[in-house]
Amino acid sequence: MIKFNQVSRSFIGDEVETVAIDEMNLTINEGEFLSILGPSGCGKSTLLNVLGMLDSIDTGEFSFLENPVDKYSEQQRARLRKQHIGFIFQNFNLIDELTVEQNIELPLYYHKVAKTERKRLVDAVLKRVDISHRRKHLPAKLSGGQQQRVAIARAIVTNPDLILADEPTGNLDSKNSTQVMALLQQLNQEGATIVMVTHAPEHIIYGTRVIELLDGKVITDHLVKEKPNSQIEKEAVGVYSKEIDSTADQGVEVTCG
Ligand SMILES: Nc1ncnc2c1ncn2[C@@H]1O[C@H](COP(=O)(O)OP(=O)(O)OP(=O)(O)O)[C@@H](O)[C@H]1O
Ligand SMILES: [Mg+2]
Repeated sequence: MIKFNQVSRSFIGDEVETVAIDEMNLTINEGEFLSILGPSGCGKSTLLNVLGMLDSIDTGEFSFLENPVDKYSEQQRARLRKQHIGFIFQNFNLIDELTVEQNIELPLYYHKVAKTERKRLVDAVLKRVDISHRRKHLPAKLSGGQQQRVAIARAIVTNPDLILADEPTGNLDSKNSTQVMALLQQLNQEGATIVMVTHAPEHIIYGTRVIELLDGKVITDHLVKEKPNSQIEKEAVGVYSKEIDSTADQGVEVTCG
């Protein structure tokens, strides 16, 4: 689905240049749920913004569903993003003046979905994230967990092929975090490809693969192996029920900054 070939992205500040993505090679396959770990400033958000086509790259090749994104104009990238990608931001990014249902409906306007169909889709997704009872509220009247569920609803209402999530549980307590992670896992099992930045190593068990970044480079890359009955086990005790497959790369520990 996604292919990076020697991709770089730098920011030039007052005389200093920060290399946020450094000649990165990365392939992400359809159906994966990839977690990204790494210390603050290592380029996680930059990578996610590039994948979400909110930011562009300086050098290298970036293809998305066979589209040569690095050669695309901003307009072409925007079209691709609208068609295929849902973005979940760490700070929710909801529009304060719009109610819960209006926030969720917004992407459907951009997709020119007819009114009755918009209502049907919004109703369904409100139910899915269990926030129907707050549909007429403004975001400020909701708890952090509820706001994040609205943000997720807005990201998935268009049924995107790729869901990008930048620390989706960063501002949540453990109960709300577990809910959000379970929802992301479910969306992945239904076919969405997910790329998630996280500071919580315990959340990588919900995914299928984990990479660790350092200074704009991928330094470890592992599959997450599922154990039998993992789902039941996880729900029952909320502990690790998957393990990292480190056979390919023995002795490298996955850590988090
Ligand atoms: N718009 C920008 N202008 C200048 N420098 C930037 C910009 N965006 C990111 N950077 C720099 O690029 C580097 C990577 O930033 P990025 O936000 O991707 O890190 P991160 O891994 O997401 O960190 P955190 O865990 O703190 O969110 C940092 O050194 C940051 O200061
Ligand atoms: Mg970040």
